[in-house]
Amino acid sequence: MSSSKGGADKAQARVEWLREQIAHHNYRYYVLDSPEISDAQWDELYRELEQLEASHPELITPDSPTQRVGGAVLPQFAQVTHRMPMTSLDNALTDAEFKAFDERLRKLLAGGADGGLFAAGETALEYFCEPKLDGLAVSLEFENGAFVRGATRGDGSVGEDITANIQTLRPLPIRLKDSSFSGTVRGEVFIRTLDFEKLNAAQKASGGQVYANPRNTAAGSLRQLDPSITASRPLSIFIYALVDAQRYGLKSQSESIEFMRGLGLPVNPEGRVCKGAQEVLDYHDELARRRSLYPGEDADALPYAIDGMVVKYNDLTKWEELGFTAKAPRFMLAFKWPEQEASTRLNNVSFSISRTGVYSPVAELEPVNIQGVTVARATLHNLDEIERLDLMLGDEVFVKRGGEVIPKITGRTARERDGSEKPIVYPDSCQHCATTLVIDERAHNWACPNRVCPGRLAQRIAYFCSRDVMDIEGLSERTAVRLVEAGLVKDIDDLYRLTREQLTALEKFGDVSADNTLAVINGSRSRPLWRVIVALEIPQVGSQTAKLLARHFGSLEALGNASEEQLMEVYSVGKLIAQEIRAWFEVPGNAELCRRLGEVGLKVSEAAAGEGGGPQPFAGRTVVLTGTISFATREQLKEWLELNGATASDSVSKKTGLVIAGPGAGSKLAKAEQLGVPVWDEAKLIEFMLSEPSSPEQKPEWWPNAK
Ligand code: IVH
Repeated sequence: MSSSKGGADKAQARVEWLREQIAHHNYRYYVLDSPEISDAQWDELYRELEQLEASHPELITPDSPTQRVGGAVLPQFAQVTHRMPMTSLDNALTDAEFKAFDERLRKLLAGGADGGLFAAGETALEYFCEPKLDGLAVSLEFENGAFVRGATRGDGSVGEDITANIQTLRPLPIRLKDSSFSGTVRGEVFIRTLDFEKLNAAQKASGGQVYANPRNTAAGSLRQLDPSITASRPLSIFIYALVDAQRYGLKSQSESIEFMRGLGLPVNPEGRVCKGAQEVLDYHDELARRRSLYPGEDADALPYAIDGMVVKYNDLTKWEELGFTAKAPRFMLAFKWPEQEASTRLNNVSFSISRTGVYSPVAELEPVNIQGVTVARATLHNLDEIERLDLMLGDEVFVKRGGEVIPKITGRTARERDGSEKPIVYPDSCQHCATTLVIDERAHNWACPNRVCPGRLAQRIAYFCSRDVMDIEGLSERTAVRLVEAGLVKDIDDLYRLTREQLTALEKFGDVSADNTLAVINGSRSRPLWRVIVALEIPQVGSQTAKLLARHFGSLEALGNASEEQLMEVYSVGKLIAQEIRAWFEVPGNAELCRRLGEVGLKVSEAAAGEGGGPQPFAGRTVVLTGTISFATREQLKEWLELNGATASDSVSKKTGLVIAGPGAGSKLAKAEQLGVPVWDEAKLIEFMLSEPSSPEQKPEWWPNAK
């Protein structure tokens, strides 16, 4: 083989790997809401693919993510007649209205054509429920696994052909996993809350227009005649319906959702089967709570705005029989919430600090009841928002609770100012350390630049303890603030030096809570190296990169000594991240912090991969987990697999080295069998775990027992 042929093979392998990675990370981000890498890392993968394709044009295939923006600018949209009309839904605004719907459906079913399935009022109906996204409905056609046409809803019978625009949507796979699938699916295009905020921040930074809300922006973005504009907007999509599902042998809505998930289509992971009206009401309440949380702060929050919950009678074999009213199907309902806006007085604006020092303005309101919840605070996001809303203290403002996030001020009421209003005063020095604030360009906010500011420190401690970092359960933000205020903790390593006496000396800190706190802190000493790396807060280094760094370098010391070039030897670490890492270690005090973390017994070194360290039984193998494993969560197993050299992946291909399939495995298992990929069941996995030497030396709590 000539060396240039070898180079081309290498490029081909890398190109394929990059495409898989990009598809995988699109799915993690847009569908699972659980990204493993930062936006910058995603951009790096994408850019590398673009560069490789530029130097090896023969490797470009129509299904490369770089080829999504295809079509030319259109003079106008063509019309598409929907084969099956896109109807709308009836609404329920209250629990009573939903119960009436359930009652009606039970009566209809009881008296149905087949003489009644059961006596009315006796049997609980099964419903499939999912969030009702506030976006734009689209209809998509696939032929032999390939996307061929996309259309807007239009008037329900005739829509507009937006194929070239739909093709740019990242969460949509370019080819389905089953190349024999042909059919029509429907879904909603929308923009996630944080993506919308980022988009607006970028608009502001470049002096562009600021968009009013995610829904209109999504709609406007889809109706662009130039698909490259659509491609530049962070559009998401969830598919919620398979037209004519019975054709595929499917009997329920939940089955058709699983079927579409198996095809690789982005379906909402929040979809849920509810048995009986009460479970539907409970889920509706849960969604009401979660939609009011802010996704930037709360893992429980919904990452997008919703305006209700869609409830579908799950048994789709009965749909035809149940039929339609004048405008909507009888077997579905949009279960919404009443409007949630009220007016009140803006009493004050306070500022809260983040771990990076950014001060966010918070509106303090005259408490007002909105739909049974007292609202006394609302987010103001940043300085531009205050300016945009043209607010003064004492103004009467509209407050909205709901759809998006934590309560929000949407504007001033029509009440005229009477001269008593006062301007909002921004602090000029930090409330915690008196350091003069500076403008943070990225956040459009004031920020405290003092790295050892106690206000920032308390937030850092809370971050350090959070689930995705050191996972110190039960050490709340409030406790963190108290520890810092009492002077007990001056940096994160001090947590591990706390004593029982120090804690019980704090007010309202009893023996029991002191012991519990110490126990959870102590328990975290054995967290793997990658978590310690995440805890360092190196910009751009999230859990995925940290795992690769931990595996490659094996210790904080080796990581700190690595040159930019050595760092870039790690897969997915490009120049930008390498520079961030170097810069972090060069900040005075940071290397010292690493040393102290080792001193208090954290895992600052771990057997490294290549250098004859820990065993790497899965080295070089891509492993896919599917179904459920009884003794561990998917995350725990993934972590263990990666520690042992595997690359964990979500999709099965010819290159998959192993599939671990627990009960409930479906299309991935079938695919593996079809491709001849080795498959382990749970018993085989346990046998392996108990026999082979594998990392970590210390077994985690979930380790299976020998029978
Ligand atoms: S099912 C007959 N599921 O809500 C229409 N719709 O008010 C069947 N929508 O036009 C729709 N999220 O655009 C369904 N998870 C979801 C939805 C959803 C949003 C929209 C859809 C439809 C409108 C009906």
